[in-house]
Amino acid sequence: MRTSVGIIGAGPAGLLLAHLLRQAGIDNVVLENRTRAYVEHRQRAGVLEQNTVDVLRASGAGERMDRVGLRHDGIELRFAREAHRVDFPTRTGGRSVMVYAQTEVVKDLIQLAQQRDGRVLFEAEAFAIEHTETLRPVIRYRHEGAEHALECDVVAACDGFHGIGRRSVPPGRLNTYEREYPFAWLGILADVPPSCDELIYANHERGFALHSMRSPHVSRLYLQVAPDEDLNAWPDERIWAELDTRFELPGWRLERGRITEKGITPMRSFVAEPLRHGRLFLVGDAAHIVPPTGAKGLNLAAADATLLAAAIIRAHDKGDESLLDAYSDTALRRVWRAEHFSYFMTTMLHRDPRQDEFAHRLQLSNLHYIAASDAAAASLAENYVGLPVV
Ligand code: FAD
Ligand code: DHB
Repeated sequence: MRTSVGIIGAGPAGLLLAHLLRQAGIDNVVLENRTRAYVEHRQRAGVLEQNTVDVLRASGAGERMDRVGLRHDGIELRFAREAHRVDFPTRTGGRSVMVYAQTEVVKDLIQLAQQRDGRVLFEAEAFAIEHTETLRPVIRYRHEGAEHALECDVVAACDGFHGIGRRSVPPGRLNTYEREYPFAWLGILADVPPSCDELIYANHERGFALHSMRSPHVSRLYLQVAPDEDLNAWPDERIWAELDTRFELPGWRLERGRITEKGITPMRSFVAEPLRHGRLFLVGDAAHIVPPTGAKGLNLAAADATLLAAAIIRAHDKGDESLLDAYSDTALRRVWRAEHFSYFMTTMLHRDPRQDEFAHRLQLSNLHYIAASDAAAASLAENYVGLPVV
């Protein structure tokens, strides 16, 4: 098979890239090793920053998001048994975020692909990327019991942290930077209306907690736990009791409901650079991971895909490769900003088991500073709603 752009992975990065290229009339094929049902139901991120909302809307993929997504104009920081709200629009020239789950973005993009004759092959596992240093790279993949070759002009590895894209770059050509954290998140989905109108990020002596949501009827909550935590040690009652403790605030109550899903998410910061080797481009989690605090992972993936789409369109339409040449440097500037913000939010809000009381006092001082200073709150708000893509 032959196409212009061979895309590995039908996560948000691969699907958005395919959609933007299709809108510009550029042929592409997406190879995804999981089933459609699996990628549509994998519980992950929930907050879209302003840029992601704008791109989905402008490209005709925002109709359902605008109908059922929840616009949020701020977050609450809860610490020392007090609540402090950070307003976004007043500090960012009117920008805000949208609570709309990754599962829904993925469903919308797959449906659009199907309506518009996009080629997305599920249960198609890419196992090799070859000739990336030539103008005719090839992706080898298995589909329906046979091996196939996809010849393309450009390969976009949108295949997540464990994919083959990054590993296909010859040894010594990538620099990697990494941080592991001594904690993880235990996340639940519960059939209960959120107990708040906006997300709550809580710093508590016993650890971080986050109250998020998926809809007016479904809550999403997270607890900081140990990295090797056993999910079986967390029956529903223990989860609710721990959430009650960490969100404790006079006059406020956490409503409980049926827990429909539980999972543990590891926390890591990781960047591989550059994001290009010959005709192979790395996009989203394939090249970089952030800890989830601050909700940047999905948004970075969408920003990479948007930049790469514009670069491929320019090269295709005008024969001008300058944006392709600039892709890695331009994307990395934003990636490192998000790496810093995610690290900042993570270290300010979690209890590091190795940390002493001095470090805890510094965390509280920073939180008080954000609560009291317009400049500090504006910096958080600007990063949270997302800086412009370029
Ligand atoms: P992915 O969504 O990982 O998509 C990659 C796709 O490639 C997958 O569908 C995979 O099946 C496919 N693939 C892999 N290898 C191959 C192959 N060889 N051949 C074909 N296909 C392949 N971010 C937040 O902001 N907030 C959160 O709460 C949050 N929670 C998370 C929870 C978990 C468990 C994980 C793993 C991530 C979470 N993230 C969160 C991060 C966010 O979901 C990711 O940043 C986002 O999914 C990145 O999108 P992507 O398209 O780059 O990669
Ligand atoms: C969600 C995840 C995050 O990492 C975050 O900072 C906010 C919300 C969520 O899954 O809803």
